[in-house]
Amino acid sequence: MRTKLNVNIDHVATLRQARQGSFPDPIDTIKIIKKAKASGIVMHLREDRRHIQLNDLKKYRQKYNFHLNLEMAPTIEMINIANRIKPNVVTLVPEKRMELTTEGGLNIKNNYNDLQNLLKKISKDIKIMFFIDPIKLQIDLALKLKAYGVEINTGKYSESTPSSAVKELNRIKKAATYSTALNLYTAAGHGLNESNLAMLVKIRDIKEYNIGHSIISNAIFYGLYDSIKRIQDIININD
Ligand code: PXP
Repeated sequence: MRTKLNVNIDHVATLRQARQGSFPDPIDTIKIIKKAKASGIVMHLREDRRHIQLNDLKKYRQKYNFHLNLEMAPTIEMINIANRIKPNVVTLVPEKRMELTTEGGLNIKNNYNDLQNLLKKISKDIKIMFFIDPIKLQIDLALKLKAYGVEINTGKYSESTPSSAVKELNRIKKAATYSTALNLYTAAGHGLNESNLAMLVKIRDIKEYNIGHSIISNAIFYGLYDSIKRIQDIININD
């Protein structure tokens, strides 16, 4: 099966919110993303609503049946929204108000009981993934919470120097092999771009990439369709 790419469209909404208007509309990118044959989209509805708004999710639901991975904090407010919107996948991420972007994986160990209680409230037809750092214990706990899969945080790898990159890649590889062996669907994301993807895609246990900032940024130079294609050419090089 071809390695999947989901395009995160949060930063189309960031541009719109810069003027508090209605343009550009992130949902209008979906027809281009579909044409480029990406597997789906990702939207992160943050508690501070800095980019994606609830209305974006409603509009997506009215117009499309395209694969949606909804990133969200593990809170009852977000679970209620997910139950209404019915994304294909919910990825639970930690959220801090002052952060520029998600800073690390969800610490399942420290939040185990709360997560267990919250997950009882989410609709059974939504697949649950956890955004985690590449740590064996976090993967074990995701499995224990009956997750469909894990998204391995590549943020640290994306910020690494040439000398520390190998160590980070090895951590990711080990984690991906381990989660795959446990039958967890294994994705990766955060900070990925045309430069740092080439090394990562050698890890064949990673079945899906979730990429936003670099694709939307490169759309300024190449257009959205070509920006997606350039990333797909790297992701699918071994397929
Ligand atoms: N995966 C998760 C869980 C994220 O929080 C983000 C950022 O919203 C991404 C992937 C995409 O990261 P980037 O925008 O750096 O490609």
